[in-house]
Amino acid sequence: MVAAAHSLPALAANEYFRDFTITSPGQALDIFDLEKTAKDHVPPAHWASLIGGTEGDQTVLANRQGFTRFRVKPRRLVDTSKLDMSVTLFGRTWPTPIIIDPVSRLKAFHPDGEVAVAAAAKKRDHLQIYATLATSSIDEVLAARQEPVWCQLYPTADWAITQGLVKKQEAAGCPVLVVTIDNPSTFGRITAARGKQNDTRTCTDCHSPEPGGPYMRLPMFDGLDTTKLTATTTNKLTWDLIPRLRDLTTMKIILKGVMSGSDATLALEHKVDGIIVSDHGGRSEESGLSTIEVLPEVVRAVGGRMPILIDSGFRRGSDIFKALALGATAVCVGRPYVWGLAAFGEAGVDRALEILTEEFKSAMISFGAPNVASIDRSFLFESSL
Ligand SMILES: Cc1cc2nc3c(=O)[nH]c(=O)nc-3n(C[C@H](O)[C@H](O)[C@H](O)COP(=O)(O)O)c2cc1C
Repeated sequence: MVAAAHSLPALAANEYFRDFTITSPGQALDIFDLEKTAKDHVPPAHWASLIGGTEGDQTVLANRQGFTRFRVKPRRLVDTSKLDMSVTLFGRTWPTPIIIDPVSRLKAFHPDGEVAVAAAAKKRDHLQIYATLATSSIDEVLAARQEPVWCQLYPTADWAITQGLVKKQEAAGCPVLVVTIDNPSTFGRITAARGKQNDTRTCTDCHSPEPGGPYMRLPMFDGLDTTKLTATTTNKLTWDLIPRLRDLTTMKIILKGVMSGSDATLALEHKVDGIIVSDHGGRSEESGLSTIEVLPEVVRAVGGRMPILIDSGFRRGSDIFKALALGATAVCVGRPYVWGLAAFGEAGVDRALEILTEEFKSAMISFGAPNVASIDRSFLFESSL
């Protein structure tokens, strides 16, 4: 066999000069600059839990690789001078389709935690989803955000606690309940466990060996009897959860963690208001399948009958463009804003959101799409991996 005359370069040109250390948010040229800086600010156990996935972390990798399966065919001579990146969700119009995912325990990455994120979300007008396991209280977050946030729910195995959480979220004025259904266990988090082995601190602020201990200290659990609670996730849940939640609340219900057309169909049958295609950023299971690869079958199953959000692995404006072209309504991000938070607090979250927005804008201009409605499947060429 004759060897190829030219081999592919080992690095994308973009990766040269990555050793450069940045000391202010404005020096970050892309999300990966924030990731690199964040690593220096976060202790090993927390860092490993942030970047790790399950078992060999293949789903984390797949979430990035999946995007390479879809290439964009740009259109030429399209007037994009009055670019409109806005999207509308449940009657509220947002300037961009970029949404802030719920990520637990943000004070593990910066002392300002969820409040810093809320302040950045307010400045740039992004929708924020507040996590059940947040370390800042919902009142603090609402004071900084100055507008209702969506609330994420981990339906625990203890219905009394689930009820208590939902009632608190409703009382806080949350219009949409984001029910996470993709995390029936936290087994297999090997990278996170390895990070702990490499961390000599005793972090009793974050972890407690007693039952009820870790949750008692999280604000959403204040006043709830958590003495029998040993985990916030459970593998007991079935689809009858949805009517039970419907009976409990008038909030709209979105399911976070759908990864098949069949479950999207079941979600429709159970009359939920929307779904998030998500594998928890590769933390749910070692399937090696990316969310962007699953999106087309979910879009087919839903047939435009409810909004489809998506997350996991979104790092570039062109990633966002591809998801919208495949039929997603909006895109959520997790680690990118946490890297900004860990690196520079609120200013880092602001920079992460700015980078993603600017890159998405640039994708729309260079691909020739003047508004979000014009981004459709005709832009994409699909290749096999
Ligand atoms: C450290 C960490 C904590 C998370 N905590 C939660 C959580 O409490 N609730 C939830 O629904 N999702 C949680 N997620 C998943 C995110 O909401 C989101 O699905 C994921 O981060 C998206 O992938 P990305 O990080 O590649 O953008 C967490 C993710 C990470 C990395």
